[in-house]
Amino acid sequence: MTPTVNRQIVLASRPPAMPTADNFRLEERPMPEPGPGEVLVRNIYMSVDPYMRSRMRDRKSYAPPWKLDEPCDGRAVGRIVRSNHPTLAAGDYVSSMLGWREFFVSSGQGLSRLDLSVAPLPAYLGVLGIPGFTGWYGLTEIGRPKAGETLVVSGAAGATGSLVGQMGKILGCRVVGTAGTEDKCAHLTRDLGFDAAINYRTAGDLYEALRRACPDGVDVYFENVGGAVLDAVLRCLNPFARIPLCGMISQYNQDPPEPGPRYLFQMVGNRVRMQGFIISDHYDRYPDFLREAGAWLKAGRLKHQETIVEGLENAPRAFLGLFKGENLGKMLVKLGPEDG
Ligand SMILES: NC(=O)c1ccc[n+]([C@@H]2O[C@H](COP(=O)([O-])OP(=O)(O)OC[C@H]3O[C@@H](n4cnc5c(N)ncnc54)[C@H](OP(=O)(O)O)[C@@H]3O)[C@@H](O)[C@H]2O)c1
Repeated sequence: MTPTVNRQIVLASRPPAMPTADNFRLEERPMPEPGPGEVLVRNIYMSVDPYMRSRMRDRKSYAPPWKLDEPCDGRAVGRIVRSNHPTLAAGDYVSSMLGWREFFVSSGQGLSRLDLSVAPLPAYLGVLGIPGFTGWYGLTEIGRPKAGETLVVSGAAGATGSLVGQMGKILGCRVVGTAGTEDKCAHLTRDLGFDAAINYRTAGDLYEALRRACPDGVDVYFENVGGAVLDAVLRCLNPFARIPLCGMISQYNQDPPEPGPRYLFQMVGNRVRMQGFIISDHYDRYPDFLREAGAWLKAGRLKHQETIVEGLENAPRAFLGLFKGENLGKMLVKLGPEDG
């Protein structure tokens, strides 16, 4: 039985610095009815992502700002419960951009059908979703690692970083990760095959720690966090190093961002290339990613973790947890059972 109310999370206010749960509000709305040609989807997992912080600002960005008092949105996977659509059937699993709510009606535009024989449902928001695709694209197209080179990845125990590091190992690199707890660092070297891991919170002199972990210097730095880690890596770069600039989570709650980095000039002498990218510009490469990473996944060469928070009402808490390092692998919110 479909419930009569649909719960959703709206943006209640815009935070000046670190967001809090008060910036969000849980609301109940009547259950939407699918019209002719439409489907009713029940969301099962929704993604919370660092980039959503920029959507809380009323400022131009590559992703539009969330509107006040309207439901937030973002990636989700769910199941069609009723269909008046010619090709999408009740029971189909689909991905959408309509997270942060339990149900939604769609014309089918923007929905992609998911094949659960390839990977379990949460994987489509993690290893086979945007984090995996972003890591693969940034590493292979911008980082262009060669076997025997040293790859450093920050945010290494998170969704993107944990996959980048493993892909670096598959491609024959020495891989060093930075992460925020001893447990995360142990997980990287023990379970994911990283050669070394540095706890950036307790390492003290990060430059010295990196130098020890990268005796041959750094050829590729996959940047997820910015700040002190970037500053230290810049001093360890080899000539012709490459830096895929994926994100800088340490700066997302600082307005204005902190000054720095201090060692950018090292890039001149070393002829280093740093390039930012937004994965949505490269969706045409998704099938290539799926082919390559899908094969690694099937062969057991790519491991993936999800940290799953239960209940739509806890979605704001899950989102805030990204800025406190509460996730290992991909942070997801589970909104309901996978079948039924
Ligand atoms: N360019 C693109 O198209 C694109 C697409 C997807 C993601 N991204 C970016 O990729 C990065 C990773 O995203 P994700 O979705 O995979 O998130 P994630 O790494 O799974 O989660 C965020 C992690 O960041 C770390 N962190 C939080 N505050 C930090 C700080 N002040 N300093 C250092 N680390 C901090 C935390 O781990 P610790 O415990 O290690 O601190 C946390 O677990 C983000 O910068 C995101 O914006 C970019």
